Amino acid sequence: MSANNNNATPFAHWFRQCTPYIHAHRGHTFVIVFGGEALDDPDLPTLVHDIALLHGLGIRLVLVHGARPQIERRLAERGAELHYVGGVRITDDAALSCVKEAAGSARVELEALLSMGLANSPMAGVRIPVASGNFVIARPIGVLNGVDYQHTGKVRRIDREALRASLDAGAVALMPPIGYSPTGEVFNLAAADVARAAAVALAADKLIFLVEGNGVTDAEGRAASNLLASDVDALLAGDPEPPEELAQALRASADACRSGIRRVHLIPRAQDGALLQELFTRDGAGTLVSDRPFEELRPARIDDIPGIRALLEPLERAGVLVPRPREDLEEVIDRFRVTERDGTVVSCAALFCWPEAQIGELACVVVHPDYRTRGRGDRLLTHMEALARERGLTHLFVLTTQTAHWFRERGFEPAGVDALPPARQAAYNARRNSKVYVKALGEDAQPA
Ligand SMILES: CC(C)(COP(=O)(O)OP(=O)(O)OC[C@H]1O[C@@H](n2cnc3c(N)ncnc32)[C@H](O)[C@@H]1OP(=O)(O)O)[C@@H](O)C(=O)NCCC(=O)NCCS
Repeated sequence: MSANNNNATPFAHWFRQCTPYIHAHRGHTFVIVFGGEALDDPDLPTLVHDIALLHGLGIRLVLVHGARPQIERRLAERGAELHYVGGVRITDDAALSCVKEAAGSARVELEALLSMGLANSPMAGVRIPVASGNFVIARPIGVLNGVDYQHTGKVRRIDREALRASLDAGAVALMPPIGYSPTGEVFNLAAADVARAAAVALAADKLIFLVEGNGVTDAEGRAASNLLASDVDALLAGDPEPPEELAQALRASADACRSGIRRVHLIPRAQDGALLQELFTRDGAGTLVSDRPFEELRPARIDDIPGIRALLEPLERAGVLVPRPREDLEEVIDRFRVTERDGTVVSCAALFCWPEAQIGELACVVVHPDYRTRGRGDRLLTHMEALARERGLTHLFVLTTQTAHWFRERGFEPAGVDALPPARQAAYNARRNSKVYVKALGEDAQPA
């Protein structure tokens, strides 16, 4: 049955849309990291409710928190302050005792919120076990360029077995920005570093940074929906540099990607519900950082035509697609995007634009039969939608005879032939009786 039953209540419709994500995430491991700002926020209980929901849906969770504002506040009360060199804090004895206090109090507060089970709250009947411990083995940063960083440390390794055992027991693992050395010393760590190391040690499915501010935005202030690790490097080397906290998250994201974490998300923490939106809707709320895509989507070239023809031909014979002979393809090859693997065109799609009507036709959306049902179709669609937005289009349409549901499940709505631009209406083949589906292009979209 389609997830888009028109008679369904909006609630049922919305819940059904989430189903694939619920199934996909169950049993997966997510490492979620947030700064100490989250702990000071009066809306912390809302974030914890969302985290409890993820736990309830069978997601194995590691929470890593920062403590900078709490440490700075405690130091200020003692008339001292944190010193930074090159963005790295120096933890002296006074700062270390503030770090310990801040971490202890954050733990108690988060444990209390995760233990709540008030009948008329979103936590009704829930009591989530929390495991905290000496999961992080650390070492000092030491002396760099003559600067002694004292109790500021780096992650040396993660006690993966202990962390895994806690998750296996159904607990949420809580990790403060603190590590211990085999010599029994305590080190103040960057939360981003702890989270990266935990994600890599557990081979987590996702590493999620809840960042302060608007997250990663482009020159126009729009949220960047997808970045490659190499884009992150460029951002970090750019001018102006991102603010230090965001830079730490970005650095850790790129490192995590290169260490095999396939999906790293940067989500604006203060945006209520952004975490759920990113994880359970097609239109995410943040930025997805991944390593170089397996197959690059690129504009098609003339020498791709045999490969495209090989994809289209069987579908044309089966009546799924309108025949598009080689000569026609040559004329419109610049409208096509393809992915290729070992010289075979694995997927293709074309975009024909009517800028005056701000509408475009998405055509020839095909994934090679050997490569279907592994998300390539989704990626292709996301890419073509972004391309359409770039061209200033507000709507996309498709004409289809047999793939209606695939498009409907991706936000296309049935429409009449009169929804097409006049020139396309004139070329509409009534005998073929293709159905028209239109999608309004909202903000940037990305798969969760
Ligand atoms: C439609 C198509 C592009 C999807 O590519 P894909 O890489 O398999 O897509 P994804 O992995 O993102 O999605 C796969 C999902 O779509 C579903 N799907 C595939 N074809 C479908 C169809 N015709 N109707 C409804 N759902 C369909 C699959 O069953 C799968 O869902 P599931 O995981 O719940 O079983 C691919 O099946 C294809 O090339 N089909 C033939 C060409 C075609 O019909 N193109 C449209 C021209 S208008």
